[in-house]
Amino acid sequence: MTKRLTALTGDTVHEEAILEAADALRQGKLVAFPTETVYGLGANALHPEAVRRVFEAKSRPPTDPLIVHLHSGAQLELVARAVPALAQALIEAFWPGPLTLVMHKTHHVADAVTAGLPTVAVRMPDHPVALALLAVAGVPVVAPSANVFSHTSPTTADHVMDDLDGRIDYVLDGGPTAIGVESTVLDVTIEPPRILRPGGTPLEDLQRFARMIEVRQPVTPESHEPQPSPGMMQRHYSPRASVLLFDGEPDKVRSGMRREADRRQGLGDRVGVLTTTEDRYAFADLGEMAVGLGSLSDLDAVARNLYAAMRALDARGVDVILARMVPEHGTGLAIRDRLLRAAEGRIILVD
Ligand code: TXA
Ligand code: MG
Repeated sequence: MTKRLTALTGDTVHEEAILEAADALRQGKLVAFPTETVYGLGANALHPEAVRRVFEAKSRPPTDPLIVHLHSGAQLELVARAVPALAQALIEAFWPGPLTLVMHKTHHVADAVTAGLPTVAVRMPDHPVALALLAVAGVPVVAPSANVFSHTSPTTADHVMDDLDGRIDYVLDGGPTAIGVESTVLDVTIEPPRILRPGGTPLEDLQRFARMIEVRQPVTPESHEPQPSPGMMQRHYSPRASVLLFDGEPDKVRSGMRREADRRQGLGDRVGVLTTTEDRYAFADLGEMAVGLGSLSDLDAVARNLYAAMRALDARGVDVILARMVPEHGTGLAIRDRLLRAAEGRIILVD
């Protein structure tokens, strides 16, 4: 049985819930908790059996390393060594916040945490429930996103329960998360540092400190008549339905999506569309099969709504989800990355 505890009302953190969950965490139990990005599945990083259970609960391959969550910069020396000056500057500027730094690990960090790598990924989440839990537990906490491996990350406690009810001990409910996509993962063991995953901390903000190397998702452009081809890349951050992306001039994208929706419906497919405020009118006939992400002029809102919208369409049993690409500034880079992964790189260019 998974015990669900309300951990936040307005700005008030519920102390009894934190005490109970922190105690369980210390003892090696699994506790899902809200962060500013997505919900994490927490386990005591210094408890090998608890770390093993995280992989088991998520059906996560042991080759995929975990992020260690800290409640203070002072905890850093327990898990990371040879912290470069740039990392110190980034920590001062961005922690607590959605920036994960990959650094050289200490011997305190077990190989199971880092999948045998000599490096460890570390972050300090910017959420009152997460920080309270980490502070009371007093131990570093591994926390992958609290979803079954390769599913869409959870942005509410309900999402966590949908995936992991019965597989974990606790869920702390702190309401919907504010950012909605995962943290930016930055490898600072190399020069210049490399962005391994774009996320909640925009590239532009990091570039004020140093030149960064970006790693981009491969794109597989398709013709106007897309085929349900198997993806060339690992499915990740994905809904159950297949996702088809459209990119190009905004009006042409809208009509391209509309044509594809009609074509698929004609074939008997249940079609879902992720709409922006700007596109909404064109898909009004789809009713609840069109789910709004917010305006293209507010990419933070799009990021916040993205995963819940994919989950909502999955719950309605769609076969295919049509979505448009977004501009790449700010949080847009992370949104593009998640959309491309969900679509397994499949994109239709309509210019
Ligand atoms: O926002 C987030 O980061 C959320 C919340 C819960 O904190 N956590 C999260 O964890 O997204 P997870 O496990 O779903 O993603 C961790 C990412 C993976 O892409 C993993 O490959 C990378 O971090 N990672 C972890 N340790 C690494 C290491 N030592 N070197 C390179 N990449 C690493
Ligand atoms: Mg994940």
